Amino acid sequence: MATIRVLPELLISQIAAGEVVERPASVLKELLENALDADAQAIQVTLDEGGARRVQVEDDGAGIPRDELPLALARHATSKIHSLDELEAVATLGFRGEALASIASVSQLTIVSRTADSPHAYAIRAEGPYIGEVEPSARARGTTVGVSDLYFNTPARRKFLRSEATEFAHCDETFRRIALAHPEHAFTLRHNSRVSRALRRAPLGDRAAALLGREFLHASLPLDAAAGSLRLYGLAGSPQIARARGDMQYFFVNGRFVRDRVLAHAAREAWRELLHGDRQPAYLLFLELEPRGVDVNVHPAKTEVRFRDSRAVHQFVLQALQRALAAGAGEAPVAYADLAPSGAPRGVAPVSFGTGRQQAFALAQPVAAYASFVADAARPLAAAAMPAAQAGEAPPLGYALAQLHGIYILAQNAAGLVLVDMHAAHERIVFERLRASLDAGNIERQTLIVPAVFRAEPLEIATLDEHREALERLGLELDVVGPDSLAVRAAPAALAGGDLPGLARAVLSELREFGAAQVLAARRDELLGGMACHAAVRANRTLSQPEMNALLREMEATERSGSCNHGRPTWYQLSLADLDKLFLRGR
Ligand SMILES: Nc1ncnc2c1ncn2[C@@H]1O[C@H](COP(=O)(O)OP(=O)(O)OP(=O)(O)O)[C@@H](O)[C@H]1O
Ligand SMILES: [Mg+2]
Repeated sequence: MATIRVLPELLISQIAAGEVVERPASVLKELLENALDADAQAIQVTLDEGGARRVQVEDDGAGIPRDELPLALARHATSKIHSLDELEAVATLGFRGEALASIASVSQLTIVSRTADSPHAYAIRAEGPYIGEVEPSARARGTTVGVSDLYFNTPARRKFLRSEATEFAHCDETFRRIALAHPEHAFTLRHNSRVSRALRRAPLGDRAAALLGREFLHASLPLDAAAGSLRLYGLAGSPQIARARGDMQYFFVNGRFVRDRVLAHAAREAWRELLHGDRQPAYLLFLELEPRGVDVNVHPAKTEVRFRDSRAVHQFVLQALQRALAAGAGEAPVAYADLAPSGAPRGVAPVSFGTGRQQAFALAQPVAAYASFVADAARPLAAAAMPAAQAGEAPPLGYALAQLHGIYILAQNAAGLVLVDMHAAHERIVFERLRASLDAGNIERQTLIVPAVFRAEPLEIATLDEHREALERLGLELDVVGPDSLAVRAAPAALAGGDLPGLARAVLSELREFGAAQVLAARRDELLGGMACHAAVRANRTLSQPEMNALLREMEATERSGSCNHGRPTWYQLSLADLDKLFLRGR
């Protein structure tokens, strides 16, 4: 039996570093947060080799006094809180007093800093366990923290670093999240001596356009709602810019980017009726609440939070979003200039936006109302209950009569009326086919005569590099065809003709988020579901009578065709008796 011993300080820091410093992007996050906590106005980031060689953040904030420089590198030393009471009400991004010590234990870290009342700057260096002397240095007011050669002394961890492109893409995403939440600060990002982003202080709308694209700004609805001490503001994307994956979902709580189930669920609910299939909404939302109403000390990297009253928060966010999304044309939108954190300087000139933007929401309501009418009047039949076709009899789902609003197929069968959600039904069929062929290890591939080229983010291109083999197994062949574009060269035959760029993006994002092993095993059905959704007939496509009948026949031949991959029913039976009841016949 080994004896129990107290761990040396360096090892403690290195263990802590494992929680906080996962990769260069996590270093960047910590340094950026420190700069913001120091009230910097302009922040400059310099990265070399994806951040693995160097991450440096330069700010014009308050600076660190000479005597406190060694403390900044000590574990559990912070200027931000001093008591449990202050922890519970913490308003700064940092509070653990751990980040710099952890980073220093696995890198070579230098701080150069100068406070307003100091005649010059001072510098301190740390390398693993060694912390150097404070020495005079030169710079204007503010702080520069440079982190070189991450994991130089922990080779096992270094091995986990991915390609330069991948690490840079993660850093870029971190940078975007922080810059989105702080439009009132200026930021630049340099990588390998090239300026890759330069952001002036701007209203939120402009910042969003710069980082998420003009299209996002023009197809989203500004909102700003408050109830009690809760405030939700930001931009809610219209269905037009819904995406295959939730990769344009930015939710911030008191200025901190978080992944939170309560908030994600409220958003999903708010958009549910507006989106087809498993399309994911795009949004940039900021929740503000009293610091005491939320515990930010539940995750070492602070990306998770716990609400004191999560039901109230859920309710508030859901209703605020629903109201904003339902407003549609006619209602005065919130002025962009007002979309700023409470207490932040306002009055930066508002951006203008197009007028077409607001029409996007007009369609959804009647559809929702109709759906609930049918849901009340009819009962879904499980696929198992589908009557078997008798020789000479009409097929179970009958024959198509018409298409309704480009969404539903109406068909007549022996019992009465059949209503089919054509997208959901087709999706299920494609899904089952795809799953069968993946299981058999022979996804039939079709090479495209004209490759489908699409614009891609650096993160997507990096993911392609990393996961070519998994893509191959899924029947996808992608290629880099330019600095910011990819092309689909081949796709599973069952999916050709669908939205291939959308499909490729969905798969890349899934691989990026969960890795190939997960995606091909535990998350296989989710992945195939996403792929099927892109291939399935979209709503608003006119189908001919033979096409509709073909779909009905395929449904009859497909297992589990009674519900789509997401568990929603694909069809309803309204019997003649049901219809009689609706019309109060025979009472
Ligand atoms: N850019 C900066 N400008 C001014 N002071 C800084 C800066 N970076 C760090 N400091 C000082 O160094 C201290 C330690 O920073 P560190 O990031 O390790 O801890 P923290 O921010 O207090 O908490 P956390 O571990 O949660 O980030 C801070 O409390 C702050 O006083
Ligand atoms: Mg910090």
